Amino acid sequence: MEVKNPYMYNGETMTPKIGSLNVGTKSVYIESYGCAMNFSDSEIVLSILNDINYKNTNDMFNADLILINTCSIREKAELTVRKRLEKFNKVKTKNKNIKIGVLGCMAERLKHKLLEEEKIVDLVVGPDAYKDLPNLLEEVSDGHTAVNVLLSKDETYSNINPVRLNPNGVSAFVSITRGCDNMCTFCVVPFTRGRERSRDPQSIINELIDLRKKNYKEVTLLGQNVDSYLWYGGGLKKDFSKASEIQKASSINFAKLLEMCALAVPEMRIRFSTSNPQDMSLDVIKKVAKYKNICNYIHLPVQSGSDKILKLMNRQHTIKDYLKLIDNINNEIPNCGISHDMIVGFPNETESDHEKTLKLMDKVKYSFGYMFKYSERPGTLAAKKFDDNVDEIAKSRRLSEIISLQQKHSLFRNKQYMNNIVEVLIEKESKKSKSKWAGRNQQNTTVVFPKENYKIGDFVNVRINNYTSATLIGEAVNYSKK
Ligand code: SAH
Ligand code: F3S
Repeated sequence: MEVKNPYMYNGETMTPKIGSLNVGTKSVYIESYGCAMNFSDSEIVLSILNDINYKNTNDMFNADLILINTCSIREKAELTVRKRLEKFNKVKTKNKNIKIGVLGCMAERLKHKLLEEEKIVDLVVGPDAYKDLPNLLEEVSDGHTAVNVLLSKDETYSNINPVRLNPNGVSAFVSITRGCDNMCTFCVVPFTRGRERSRDPQSIINELIDLRKKNYKEVTLLGQNVDSYLWYGGGLKKDFSKASEIQKASSINFAKLLEMCALAVPEMRIRFSTSNPQDMSLDVIKKVAKYKNICNYIHLPVQSGSDKILKLMNRQHTIKDYLKLIDNINNEIPNCGISHDMIVGFPNETESDHEKTLKLMDKVKYSFGYMFKYSERPGTLAAKKFDDNVDEIAKSRRLSEIISLQQKHSLFRNKQYMNNIVEVLIEKESKKSKSKWAGRNQQNTTVVFPKENYKIGDFVNVRINNYTSATLIGEAVNYSKK
């Protein structure tokens, strides 16, 4: 079993979110799978399509174009997409003129092969090629297929104003970097999303201000490795050493960017994801501590508690470095929520390595985490160099062991909130009760409480009077206007 993230990060179960823009003469139905970045990219794609008179629809049967924004991170994610393609095939048998396009990481990984393997696909477009969609749609309009999987050195979609798809109108994603240079041996992302580049800070600030004007209350800054953000006038991160002295002196790193964002929209909550232990600086931690509107929450994937495994994974940190970072976070940011990503069953992981993972979890006592069985991805260094030699039974057992330990820790963390007052941003109705709102506190834990006269988008102070391992339960104490 995999732990699902309720906020669509790694959420292979993510349901399609449909926007409601009503422009245009043709219609596009879009589904997104995988990480928050994909979800955010779909908003960019819709903006590009709106410009050529497509409106978005939630009726796939009557659409002119179906797009599926895909994830390759684990085999299961790809299988989910293949299943959806079967469904779209049925739609196509009813509506012969419909065009089907595959976007995102599977498009990039499989390229032309996707056209051979999935006969119904007309269009294959990689994550850096969305601006070419108008041309590609021209090409497919007369029955041809079209592919653009070029990766870019500078595409950050800075000048595109995304069409927001999150129907709650409260929280939004804003991309700040694209690609990843880290080459963790298990990970397909560097191959599907290319080299790392950062987006112009001014365009990020403009997007935040626009969101505030539209009454959004919370933004999550997105990147594969946000701590590595570096703006020096454009260009790849790896070419920074070749920049001029003036460019270097005026460059903006993630700590500075965070501060600029916090000051630009003081009424909005700011979150960021994902942090990488090797690049997270004390400066970043201090900015989180300094600004009230930067949420006290850090998602800090570690992947394993064993230095031997971290080395095989090509992670550029040891457990000692990681624990020092955790200490710094706890010392600088009181009540910081900390979560993790963990992989069990990486090649050559022994029982003793696995115990080290359990030991690390016991030390940190994370608020929550996303836990996975290792899934070998074709083309990665791990697939080339190592045997996938931990058997399925051991993988499953190790996964359930870390999941139950995490549940114990989540329960422990949530218990600490008893009788405390937390600030909650209301996002939606509670799934379990029509009379309750659901939102998150700063630490990213879900809180539910009676609706009274509050509404979606309100910041409410809630006194916690009950808890489970996943949810805090309470009652509003007073209205804090933000
Ligand atoms: N830095 C990225 C990581 C994306 S992948 C980010 O924005 O979060 C998210 C998580 O998926 C990783 O942290 C890792 O725990 C897991 N993962 C990546 N590749 C995997 C694989 N081959 N098998 C199992 N889990 C994997
Ligand atoms: Fe993947 Fe490691 Fe980058 S997990 S996204 S290669 S930081």
